[in-house]
Amino acid sequence: WYLGLSLLACATAAQAEDGYRLWMRYAPATASQTADPVTVRGEQTPMLAAAAAELRRANPAGLGPVMLAHANDPAVTALRLPVATLGDEGYLVRSVTIDGRPVTLVTGTDRGILYGTFALLRHLATGAAPTRIDLTSRPRVGLRMLNHWDNLDGVVERGYAGRSLWDWWTLPDYRDPRYTDYARANASLGINGTVLNNVNAKVESLTPRYIAKAAALADIFRPYGIKVYLSARFSAPVELGGLKTANPKDPAVAAWWAAKSDEIYRAIPDFGGFLVKANSEGQPGPRDYGASHADGANMLAAAVRPHGGIVLWRAFVYADTDPNDRAKQAYDEFKPLDGQFAKNVIVQVKNGALDFQPREPFHPLFGAMPRTPIAPEFQITKEYLGFATHLAYLAPLFSETLTADTHTRGHARVSQVIDGSLDRHRLSAIAGVANIGDSRDWTGSSFNQANWYAYGRLAWDPSLTPQAIAREWAMQTFGTDPKLLDTVVAMMMASREAVVDYTGPLGLAHLMATGHHYGPGPWVADLKRPEWNPVYYHRADAAGIGFDRTKTGSKAVAQYAPGLAKLYADPKTTPENELLWFHHLPWTYRMASGATLWDTLVQHYDRGVATVDTLRTQWQQTKPLVDPERWQKTDEFLAVQAREARWWRDASLSYWMSLNNLPLPAGSPPPA
Ligand code: GCU
Repeated sequence: WYLGLSLLACATAAQAEDGYRLWMRYAPATASQTADPVTVRGEQTPMLAAAAAELRRANPAGLGPVMLAHANDPAVTALRLPVATLGDEGYLVRSVTIDGRPVTLVTGTDRGILYGTFALLRHLATGAAPTRIDLTSRPRVGLRMLNHWDNLDGVVERGYAGRSLWDWWTLPDYRDPRYTDYARANASLGINGTVLNNVNAKVESLTPRYIAKAAALADIFRPYGIKVYLSARFSAPVELGGLKTANPKDPAVAAWWAAKSDEIYRAIPDFGGFLVKANSEGQPGPRDYGASHADGANMLAAAVRPHGGIVLWRAFVYADTDPNDRAKQAYDEFKPLDGQFAKNVIVQVKNGALDFQPREPFHPLFGAMPRTPIAPEFQITKEYLGFATHLAYLAPLFSETLTADTHTRGHARVSQVIDGSLDRHRLSAIAGVANIGDSRDWTGSSFNQANWYAYGRLAWDPSLTPQAIAREWAMQTFGTDPKLLDTVVAMMMASREAVVDYTGPLGLAHLMATGHHYGPGPWVADLKRPEWNPVYYHRADAAGIGFDRTKTGSKAVAQYAPGLAKLYADPKTTPENELLWFHHLPWTYRMASGATLWDTLVQHYDRGVATVDTLRTQWQQTKPLVDPERWQKTDEFLAVQAREARWWRDASLSYWMSLNNLPLPAGSPPPA
């Protein structure tokens, strides 16, 4: 029995690893290929060593020798390759002959070689032949960041994958190997910055003890091209520094931040800079002193500028200023500040004007501040989309914002605004609120790993399609069986729309339960501030439903460029999936299909439930092709999702029917 038990233990350990390895599930070639497959030319920098180590670890079958060499290495220049356009981070990977020997050359800068190495491994893991390789790419966005909403006590705000990965207690002395795996995973996508702590920041993160801990992480991440940033609490000069004020116009305050920055840079010479949430949801900020967001941002920017640091200043302001329409606040406050921010400030704007809903129109600030670099902030963690349990592949959501037509300066896409190309900004950035925790599979479910992956790939190249990303992720995560891939990709592509359908179709938003945001709560009406209540967002009564944001309502449509504002002003030219975001309409309103708004709404809820049922059936077909650990967990989560999709539909429909007294359309199952 002992043998049996230990065999079982081995099997369990091996299976438990399945989720841990993310999309880097290498199957190294065995014995016959034991000669070192990698040569590094020139200086063996830590980054090149990291790239070489990754190649040795993966040791892909059939690849043959690989050479890592800088683009200015004589062996590379002799080949006259098109390396001039690679920039600081681009790579070129090509099958070439050097000194009469065929090799796979990976070239660029140190960083380019690191990214090229991972691109080569991805290329091979997605079924490409190891010969005649020719890959070249450079990132479109400069700073590709993860934002961790990790508190210093280990709790992750809106985190559903366990506790924080950072063990602040044992740092800086104990350097958990998992930190390196985190860095490898990010480098494989090209993520090059990470904000370690929550935007609702505690001042302790700026104390010497915590700076030393952050420095230890920075040391581990550096060879993988990842810079560390910190969220800064604006009132730190008072709380930590003992000053009477944190007024950005007070020279003593500016001096305090300059000294604090110097201290951080002594410990972390390549520290990225600060991320700031100011005057939002109770956080301190410059407005407390009658100063503007630009005054606050510029004061901090001056402190980090001598060291090459930057400030990411969030536009998610949410105060009591406009009870008329919460969604208008960021634009109203930031648009007038265009042109006033220092050169090393980036304004970080959520993808939509409200708060990471399953669907929101793109934020009107994209395209509205041409003199300011604007970074989009996406939420990878699924606060409003069923936490870690529900399957919702988010690339379609990210991509919907990135490809949206701003109707400014021709038909510029949001991606052209944020990559800096439209307005020729030197700085460009993109941020994703991480879904990572210390759970064995990092993200709480196998499919949530795809959201981390897809975010990273889109940050590198916003023009990649969600479908293509899903396929390459699935190949690396589950294997290359075509039937499995078709099924998994189909599931992923249907999943986010299903969540929209059963939680809030046709442009409805913020209908979830109070506080935790899990499950339905459209009837909630008794919270202290009007805009905390779902009834504020749907405005439904016996006659109709939806938020009028046209000129007869909150006038938020006027925040968009004129061409788009015109389309949004009329329900007939508003995209159907954003209809009730912009319009309050009678339940009997006729949709393009000829059906009434009410019947169409019900169809969407039913469709959401039906799609989740289909996901479950599809997943059943994959059972023989996926390891038991990952298969089982996904299966059980899908069962939860199927139950909760019904909960959402039935609770929502019952509530709407209590207002409109309308019957369900023929064929729709009655709410339970
Ligand atoms: C949402 C979220 C908060 C978070 C805030 C932010 O409101 O629920 O937990 O702090 O966004 O982005 O700052």
